[in-house]
Amino acid sequence: MLRCKVSSLILQHTVLSRAHLTPELALRLITPECPLWTARAEELPFPDPFWGFYWPGGQATARYILDNPKIVENKTVLDLGCGCGAGAIAAAKMKAKNVVANDIDVYALEATCINAALNGISLTTSASNLIGEKPLKPHCDTVLVGDMFYDSEFAETLFKWLMTLKGTTVLIGDPGRHGLTQRTGLKRLATYQLPPNSCLENRGFAETTLWQLDIK
Ligand SMILES: C[S@@+](CC[C@H](N)C(=O)[O-])C[C@H]1O[C@@H](n2cnc3c(N)ncnc32)[C@H](O)[C@@H]1O
Repeated sequence: MLRCKVSSLILQHTVLSRAHLTPELALRLITPECPLWTARAEELPFPDPFWGFYWPGGQATARYILDNPKIVENKTVLDLGCGCGAGAIAAAKMKAKNVVANDIDVYALEATCINAALNGISLTTSASNLIGEKPLKPHCDTVLVGDMFYDSEFAETLFKWLMTLKGTTVLIGDPGRHGLTQRTGLKRLATYQLPPNSCLENRGFAETTLWQLDIK
């Protein structure tokens, strides 16, 4: 589909929001004011819009980066499964050397470009499925993984692969999905209370945590 059609659909069905853990980032999101908030799957004008929501894991990742810029400063950063792009945008804002926003959904990449422009930063995008690549090319200093543990089988594959990324700082933002916290090799960096609207979107999760993987 033409990029401008994707872009205009995103703009049509989202609103600008700062009602999240990183209000310094302006993000186009699907919020309760948007008709799509209550739409059934068959009414959606695009595939399931994960990019239209700012997931708890992504919020923890971006909040931590904005508060601890040294973790990305001068680094090459990959935001895996970027969704709305907040992790990548936070990294670029905090002076990462090079930022790649990666997602297999072209709508997510376009939403990320729209949000990057809104926040006055530049980044590059990648639509490749990088999960399983050994070694990860090009090499990244830091990989951001915001709320990617939403399916138990996928979580297993993803975690095993992340553990192979020796020499890379892997930051995982997650509210506690699929037994992530029971895994070994995770160091907790910070926990945040989610704002009320995010609790509403993510039934049952009131807080979100940023973890760093300890890769031997
Ligand atoms: C739950 S959303 C999280 C989005 C964002 N990181 C956040 O926290 O707000 C998961 C995202 O991962 C993307 N995704 C799923 N499988 C992927 C893969 N193999 N490679 C890259 N992205 C993937 C989806 O398209 C979706 O945008």
